Amino acid sequence: MFSNVNDNIKNSPFVHNSLEREKVEIELLLQAIYRMYGYDFRNYAYDSIARRIRHGMNSLGEESISTLIAQVIHHPERMQQLLPFFFVNVTEMFRDPSMFLAFRKRIVPYLKTYPHIRIWHAGCSTGEEVLSMAILLKEEGLYDRARIYATDIDEAALEKAQDGIFPLRNMKLYTQNYIQAGGTKEFSDYYTARHDSVKFQSDLMKNIVFARHNLVTDQSFNEFNVIFCRNVMIYFNKLLQSRVHTLFHESLAPLGLLVLGDKESMLFNEHTRYYEAVDEDEKIYRKMK
Ligand SMILES: C[S@@+](CC[C@H](N)C(=O)[O-])C[C@H]1O[C@@H](n2cnc3c(N)ncnc32)[C@H](O)[C@@H]1O
Repeated sequence: MFSNVNDNIKNSPFVHNSLEREKVEIELLLQAIYRMYGYDFRNYAYDSIARRIRHGMNSLGEESISTLIAQVIHHPERMQQLLPFFFVNVTEMFRDPSMFLAFRKRIVPYLKTYPHIRIWHAGCSTGEEVLSMAILLKEEGLYDRARIYATDIDEAALEKAQDGIFPLRNMKLYTQNYIQAGGTKEFSDYYTARHDSVKFQSDLMKNIVFARHNLVTDQSFNEFNVIFCRNVMIYFNKLLQSRVHTLFHESLAPLGLLVLGDKESMLFNEHTRYYEAVDEDEKIYRKMK
């Protein structure tokens, strides 16, 4: 016998459960964004992407996610306004200073044996991390043989990164971080203050290439000795993390290093067997031959 359509509707778990309903709306929104604009957020960690969509919806004054879907489909400028809510740009210079200290002590001596070094900062946000690395490499006499690629999906963040201009109020924290990270100079020597912002020496930028790269949809573009991807994969689900790990594995030279964020780890994923931990606490891993 055929089931009664009305019964199916009445008994649907989605009808009376607002969370389930929201899940359907979010899936449809992400599908629409992917189909219309090519941004693929479908495999971002659900709770965090849902939070950001709700925030975007409220900030843009939309009544519901369903109305947002219609807006996104029919009005590209609405998509433009929504896009920044998908990116979490939080960053700081010498973030997790103990990682930079460990890098200086344990990795720099090894890099000094190389004539050229290629480094990739994947998910560089507004540039604070890559600038910190440029300073460290300069102090260690490695900057001139380094080529640094700093990429992000977010073009607005990349533009800021290229400017090298940051709020003056952040310098107190960054100076503390720099000292804890084993910095050997006066931190203020690296920038010039003007009104309420500071501009870092343009010399620090000369070997950095900033480019847009989407870890979800773009391919490898070089072979690297070091890849930093800190506090990015934390926003991805397991499937996407696995895709990005494959990309990094393909992009690392033999014995290349992968550096993850504080709350991320190589443990418990299927790529573990390709790496050894140089420093598990600081999330520094070496690709085995
Ligand atoms: C929290 S920031 C991390 C910045 C820096 N790595 C740090 O640890 O301080 C995360 C960055 O990942 C970027 N991002 C998110 N999805 C991405 C993707 N699919 N491809 C490349 N970058 C992405 C965001 O735009 C954001 O700038």
